[in-house]
Amino acid sequence: MKEERSSFSGKLGFILAAAGSAVGLGNLWRFPYLAAQHGGGIFILVYLILVVTFGFSMLILELAIGRKTKQSSITAYTKLHKKFGFLGYLAAIVPIIILPYYCVIGGWVIKYMMEFLTGGGLEAADSAYFGGFVSQAGEPLIFFVIYLLATMVIVLGGVQNGVERVSKVLMPVLLLLSIGISIYVATIDGAWDGIKYYVLPDLSNFSMSTVCAAMGQLFFSLSIAMGIMVSYGSYVKDDIDLSGCVNHIEIFDTSVALLSGFMIVPAVFVFAPDKLNTGGPGLMFETLPMVFKQMPFGQVIGAVFFVLVLLAALTSSISIMEAIVSMVMDKFKLKRWIAVVGVTVFSILLGIPSAWGFGLWGDVKILGMDFLTFFDFLANSVLMPIVALATCILVGWVVKTKTIEDEITKNGEKFARKGIFRVMVRYIAPVFLIMILVFYTLAQFGLVNY
Ligand code: PFF
Repeated sequence: MKEERSSFSGKLGFILAAAGSAVGLGNLWRFPYLAAQHGGGIFILVYLILVVTFGFSMLILELAIGRKTKQSSITAYTKLHKKFGFLGYLAAIVPIIILPYYCVIGGWVIKYMMEFLTGGGLEAADSAYFGGFVSQAGEPLIFFVIYLLATMVIVLGGVQNGVERVSKVLMPVLLLLSIGISIYVATIDGAWDGIKYYVLPDLSNFSMSTVCAAMGQLFFSLSIAMGIMVSYGSYVKDDIDLSGCVNHIEIFDTSVALLSGFMIVPAVFVFAPDKLNTGGPGLMFETLPMVFKQMPFGQVIGAVFFVLVLLAALTSSISIMEAIVSMVMDKFKLKRWIAVVGVTVFSILLGIPSAWGFGLWGDVKILGMDFLTFFDFLANSVLMPIVALATCILVGWVVKTKTIEDEITKNGEKFARKGIFRVMVRYIAPVFLIMILVFYTLAQFGLVNY
């Protein structure tokens, strides 16, 4: 008997699962520090333009490939065209690189959550606190492993549904809390300059690196160019309106990111202006405790906030681990628990350099970057553009966009941005992606400034 492919229960179930994967540390931790670093308003503008054009096209394209082929990413591309099988493997490398360092940041979240829950959160507001924490050998490693094991237990126990159900309730709470914190931040003396920097585009801040950073962020945040959405698409029922779902996912994902910036970027102006360009991965951890310290009930609000961030992060990391585990199971015909344990051990090993990259191994730099920033760069700025480029060539020029358009509109659904989709996939995106890859290569040889 042919095994029935499992599928999402309906439109809402699918949107929530995809949003659970999309909304995570990318929105809360990564987006604000990139926005701060790459010119504020101009970064937001470039990002928003990319979301509604390129992000939309890639997301709907991957979901449609999945639903059309009814295969997960590793075999879906072969099914579309046998010469493109390599793309499945290339895409598969991305989550393998992301999972370990994602869990290192998840560990930082646990540390801060514990600190706030046990009453020490206000100490975290000290400007030397974060540096002191990440430069230790023990704690960053221990909290990383705890976070990874938590992800492992959920994936192993197959209780994703439970987590999704909890987060369905808690995510709106996170949204409301973020709105509240943003409003509070706006009332602090000196925050106004930060808000202006964050929302008003200043063309003199624009450079090629703004576009590159926004593009990498788009991939990361929407969980695209890594095969995950292809697999999700394969579980979507045929009668679901893909383009409507994509709109919901994008709006939700982008709102959380923008709000997170409203909490963090103006606070940087007030509390740590020197960190604007240099804060990097630590920015959220360094500035938010300072906000909580000033707020009435800050200790409690901070604790609730970090619990919610942890949940948002977990719904994403389980989707990353699940993607790797299902590929490993299929490829090596392994039992589920063996694959899960194998992926966990491998991730611990690969995560150690990122966990120690700000302390014990702080002197080691790859292409001028600490380990965590390097892995992040490798995944988002190198591999994902290559995967996206190959996908655009496959769909735009080999199997042709019509195949995908037909999949999207097969029940007579409206596809309002069809024109944009076609031009994007065939012309604009490939040219853009090639430019980005060339730019990065030149930057590595010091021929252009990054
Ligand atoms: N999109 C997630 C976030 O913004 O946090 C991160 C992520 C999820 C990356 C799933 C990769 C992935 F496969």
